[in-house]
Amino acid sequence: MADGGVVESVKGMHPSFLNVIKQKERVRERLKGVKNKIGVYSAKGGVGKTSISINIAYTLMRMGFRVGLLDADIDCPNVTTFLNISDKMDLSGFPLRPIEKDGVRIASTSMIVDDNKRPIIWRGPMIAKMLGDFFENTDWGELDYLIIDLPPGTSDSPLSILQLVDMRGFILVTTPSRVSASDSMRSGLMVRRLGAAILGVVENMSEGDVPSRATVELAKELDAKVLGCVGFDRIFKDMDNIGGVPVLRDERVYERFRGILEDLAGR
Ligand SMILES: Nc1ncnc2c1ncn2[C@@H]1O[C@H](COP(=O)(O)OP(=O)(O)O)[C@@H](O)[C@H]1O
Ligand SMILES: [Mg+2]
Repeated sequence: MADGGVVESVKGMHPSFLNVIKQKERVRERLKGVKNKIGVYSAKGGVGKTSISINIAYTLMRMGFRVGLLDADIDCPNVTTFLNISDKMDLSGFPLRPIEKDGVRIASTSMIVDDNKRPIIWRGPMIAKMLGDFFENTDWGELDYLIIDLPPGTSDSPLSILQLVDMRGFILVTTPSRVSASDSMRSGLMVRRLGAAILGVVENMSEGDVPSRATVELAKELDAKVLGCVGFDRIFKDMDNIGGVPVLRDERVYERFRGILEDLAGR
C-alpha cells in the first residue's frame, strides 16, 4: 500500500506538500528504469548548457550507455534546433514516447507544439505541468542516463525538477567570467539548499586547458570539482548554425568530453 504509506507519513501536512510528495512517488515509479538522472545547469543563459547537455548525452551514447535527453527549457526549447529534429511526439496515446535520434531518446516541448516559431507563453503552473508530463507520463524505458538540459534562472523549471526527481546530481556549466561564475554559484547553492548533489563544474568557452580564476573560485566555494574545460571552438557554432554534434565529428572533442565524464561514468 505505497500510497497509504505516503499519506500516513505526511499526516497533518499542507495539501500542496502532500500533492508534491504523491507526484514524486508517481515519478519515481515511472522512472524506475532510469539509473542516473543528471541535470546540466546554470542560472545564466548562453553559457552553453544545451550544447554541453547534447555533447554529454552523445558521449555517453558513444561509450555504449543507453541515454535519454530531456529538454527542460520548456518555453525556449533549443535541443531540437541544434539536432535538426522536426518530428513531433504522438499525443494520441498514453504514455508519451520520446523520439529517438542517433540512438538517444529525446523529449522536448518543441516536439509537442504545432508551430515551433510561435512563442510559448506559459505561466509557472503550465511549465510545471509540462515537466510533470515529461517525468510522469513519458515512457523513457530502461536508461543508464537521463541528461536534463535546464533553462537559466532559479525558479519554475529547476525548482520542479529538484522537487520531483531523485537526481544523481547536477553538472554546473560556467564560462570564464565573473558574472557567469556568480550566476552558477546561485544555481549551485539552490541545488544544495534543496538537498541534491553538485557533481562538478564544467568551464565552457575556455580560453585554454586550465580553468579561469572565476571558475576555480566557484568550484572551491561550492566544494566541487572542476570536471574539465571545453574550449571556444567553431565546431559548436557549426552545431548551432548547420547542425552536427561535435563529439560525433571530432575525436579530440569526444576525448575531452570523455575526460569530463570519467569520474561519473567510468569506462
Ligand atoms: N564551446 C563553445 N564554443 C563556441 N561557441 C559555443 C560553445 N558552447 C556554446 N557555444 C555557442 O553559444 C551559444 C549559446 O549556447 P547554448 O548551448 O544555447 O547555451 P545555453 O543553453 O546555456 O543558453 C550558441 O550559439 C552555441 O553555439
Ligand atoms: Mg539552453
